[in-house]
Amino acid sequence: MIKVRNLVKDFKTEYGTFRAIDDVSFEVEKGEVFGIIGLSGAGKSTLVRCLNRLEEPTSGTVNIDGVCINDLDKKSLLETRRNIGMIFQNFNLFEQSTVYENIAYPLEIIGMNKKEIEATVEEMLDFIDLKEKRNSYPSEISGGQKQRVAIARALATKPKILLSDESTSALDPANTEQILNLLRNSVKRYNMTIVMITHQMEVAKNICDRIAVMENGKIIESNTVENIFKNPKTDRTKSFIKSLPDAIEDQIFDPDEFNGRLMRLHFDSTVAKRPIVNNLIKHSNCTVNILSGNINRLAKGDVSGYLTVELDGSDEDIEAAVLELSKQNVGVEVL
Ligand SMILES: Nc1ncnc2c1ncn2[C@@H]1O[C@H](COP(=O)(O)OP(=O)(O)OP(=O)(O)O)[C@@H](O)[C@H]1O
Ligand SMILES: [Mg+2]
Repeated sequence: MIKVRNLVKDFKTEYGTFRAIDDVSFEVEKGEVFGIIGLSGAGKSTLVRCLNRLEEPTSGTVNIDGVCINDLDKKSLLETRRNIGMIFQNFNLFEQSTVYENIAYPLEIIGMNKKEIEATVEEMLDFIDLKEKRNSYPSEISGGQKQRVAIARALATKPKILLSDESTSALDPANTEQILNLLRNSVKRYNMTIVMITHQMEVAKNICDRIAVMENGKIIESNTVENIFKNPKTDRTKSFIKSLPDAIEDQIFDPDEFNGRLMRLHFDSTVAKRPIVNNLIKHSNCTVNILSGNINRLAKGDVSGYLTVELDGSDEDIEAAVLELSKQNVGVEVL
């Protein structure tokens, strides 16, 4: 659906040329939710803006649904952009227009007739469950409702791709959950492909299929959401994940304060249904002390979780326990 090859974006600044995107390549499949995470200034927004040429790439190619968008003239580009909706952290609604007018706007731009516009806006109002707010102005609705309107406006032309730049950052957890549900439903109902930037770990875990980690204009790692969180390949990804706002709270455990060995056991759906701790206690000579744990629901009904435990025993017994856990597909991280 989206194929990016050797993308480079240079900005001219008063100090010379600044390379914001540095030779980035990746692909996103149809119907996939592709997450982009990374520190502030890593180049996430610039990269996403290059996908619809809101930002002109300096070199490299972006292929959308078989069409290379780099060489499109203005008219063809506008047509292609119809297939790419976008939502932002600050909603970007027209403050002087009602909810209805906001959603109708992109349909007017593409020259839809009044009747079709009415039917489509009604459909979208129903989809975002805000029929009763059709005549309200943005200042009269809540942040979560504003973002729902922004999603309806972005989806009104039935784009194939939705680009989302921190669309849930300004929302509280309940509204975030609602927006994520809406995005999940968009994938299902409209067969959408979503590229979403987020700095919220729970958002990434809850909705993304794959995640790319950006640093200094490069993708330093990309993998399925489970693997990125369970087996980050680089130390930089590991420390970045730890720094995320709702990162697991395990840093409060200081290994020096425990007699035994501290470990974080990571598990996925296959493991979650088996009595791992029970087996560990039964079949190893270590004592097992559970310190903390968490379980997350992922996209597609999978789960991913961790348990932080203290294992006390001889080196051999601990080694044997770790080996046994690994055999059972539990990821073991020694803290
Ligand atoms: N128009 C511009 N001119 C010059 N430099 C720019 C321009 N736009 C972005 N940059 C620089 O490019 C780099 C990447 O910016 P970008 O907005 O893509 O980062 P980001 O990963 O989205 O960060 P954040 O998480 O803070 O939104 C930054 O160093 C930024 O200062
Ligand atoms: Mg940004």
